[in-house]
Amino acid sequence: MSDPVPRAAEIRRCPGSPPVQPWLVTEVLTGYRLEPNGIHGPAHWLRVRANGLALAARTPGACIEVVELFALLHDSRREDEGHDLGHGERAAAYAQRLVDAGMLKLDASGLDLLVSACAWHEHGRVSAEPTIGCCWDADRLELSRLNRRPIARFLSTSAAHDAHLQAAAWQRGYDQEVDRSDLAAWGLEAVLAGGGGG
Ligand SMILES: [Fe+2]
Repeated sequence: MSDPVPRAAEIRRCPGSPPVQPWLVTEVLTGYRLEPNGIHGPAHWLRVRANGLALAARTPGACIEVVELFALLHDSRREDEGHDLGHGERAAAYAQRLVDAGMLKLDASGLDLLVSACAWHEHGRVSAEPTIGCCWDADRLELSRLNRRPIARFLSTSAAHDAHLQAAAWQRGYDQEVDRSDLAAWGLEAVLAGGGGG
């Protein structure tokens, strides 16, 4: 079983990149076109965040701020709840617009990682790059909300193969639960009141 305590020395923080703040979540939700309690909505984003932070804590070189931003943005410009080809590219373009507008503070390397992770997340790839790998694995472990187990060959990080981590992600998604502290971190208590959604 893996050490549940993140080893701080191995967690990469992107210089000048603060964690996601509730005002940014509000901005993203303002342009979200789908049902907030739908399967690709903010409860899913928060569980991707929880999965991603757990993965990043066990993946040397992973940038946790980019992983959290991926959780927030990757499905945020969807136009339907199906495959919606191109929603990753739209999320990447939106990330760029947020940076251009001064609403997102990311250095060039962080933005490159975020744009790539968003743009390619819908294409079934794996990545050896630790931050991108954590992003994609965090989303794949959330297939639990659809009662689907992760397929090993589609996981990028060694952390995602950890039985303890997988079990926690499975339970979170299968039960469609979001921790109160995670809701509070993004200011989503009112948006998701009465149910975590999918
Ligand atoms: Fe997703």
